[in-house]
Amino acid sequence: MRLSKAATFLALPLLAAATGADAQTKPVQPQAAAQAVIASQRGAGAFTQYMAKFQSFLSNIVGAQNPLGGADGDSSSSSSSSSAKAAGAGKKKVMAEPKPIATLTLEGWRDALYAPVKENATVAEEWLVLVSGGNKTCYGRCTALDTAFNVSALDLANLPSPSVRHLHLGRLDCDAQPILCNVWSANPGSLWSLSLLPAPAPVEIHTRSFNLSLAAPTPTAQDIVTAYLARADPEVDEKAEIPTRRRWHRFENEGWLHPFDGKLAKLGLSVPVAYFFYGLNAVPTWVLMLVVSFVSRTLINRRLAPSTQPGAPASSRRS
Ligand SMILES: *[C@@H]1O[C@H](CO)[C@@H](O)[C@H](O)[C@H]1NC(C)=O
Ligand SMILES: *[C@@H]1O[C@H](CO)[C@@H](O)[C@H](O)[C@H]1NC(C)=O
Ligand SMILES: *[C@@H]1O[C@H](CO)[C@@H](O)[C@H](O)[C@H]1NC(C)=O
Ligand SMILES: *[C@@H]1O[C@H](CO)[C@@H](O)[C@H](O)[C@H]1NC(C)=O
Repeated sequence: MRLSKAATFLALPLLAAATGADAQTKPVQPQAAAQAVIASQRGAGAFTQYMAKFQSFLSNIVGAQNPLGGADGDSSSSSSSSSAKAAGAGKKKVMAEPKPIATLTLEGWRDALYAPVKENATVAEEWLVLVSGGNKTCYGRCTALDTAFNVSALDLANLPSPSVRHLHLGRLDCDAQPILCNVWSANPGSLWSLSLLPAPAPVEIHTRSFNLSLAAPTPTAQDIVTAYLARADPEVDEKAEIPTRRRWHRFENEGWLHPFDGKLAKLGLSVPVAYFFYGLNAVPTWVLMLVVSFVSRTLINRRLAPSTQPGAPASSRRS
């Protein structure tokens, strides 16, 4: 539902742009383009609000260039270095500390995710983020998954694979962070794997969902570990007989919605758009249909208007 609404409304600015008098011919700064898009949404006072959000979002991005290191980031990076030391010492019997689980928020998620990424790193830092929720967004079905993820923090830290020291855990609660879940277009009950290299490099994202149906087996910590191992080696899913639709799927970097590299994110529009769709979810579908049909009719009428002038020969309209 959310996506189909999203698709419908994403198309509107495009329609509007297509019927605009003259097309943009010279390249413009992303920010200027974004402001133009916002300015073109006439008659909606709410957009000044989005504008403010958008500007604070931009300053977030600028701030992320030299992160000060939030509490989450600090603890996760210090723990990963300590587990690295443990691995380096080669003491197999020593139990590692459970990996800390960072809580992602709308204001701090970029800084938190980039915190462990070293300046000139050539090996990606991997984040395993549980997208979860409570009674509102997950209908109370995410509790078992939350528990499994908590338990897996210890199991993951103790995996023998050396690449585990590049692994960091996070949790995104869609009840507490509905806007961030919209920005990510993330659904509760899913796992996100994000591979981060220093800043301008594209961010590789894979997602995977769990069956939260009451009839389905309760998710366990082993399912989380399987998911982590299957990211590096798809054979693991094969052996565990995970159905294809429950395996990892790549999030397209080229589309609109990729939270780092998508067109909306590049334009700095993902937060305003997320607020827009969050508001939209409160509106009944029939109202949306009415608005869409009204807007598209207006656009079509405007486009047809010059060509319906009396006396104009049909052939002259072709150019
Ligand atoms: C990163 O690379 C740049 C240029 O190659 C170098 O000047 C800088 O010292 C490096 N930084 C670190 C932390 O290694
Ligand atoms: C969620 O719903 C259940 C059952 O309806 C209730 O017992 C529980 O207190 C609710 N939890 C929260 C955090 O509201
Ligand atoms: C998971 O752990 C966090 C703290 O690390 C705690 O706040 C939360 O209640 C735990 N959730 C479950 C379902 O055990
Ligand atoms: C979830 O699991 C149940 C029980 O195994 C199954 O009947 C159902 O089809 C599954 N749903 C999805 C969407 O995979």
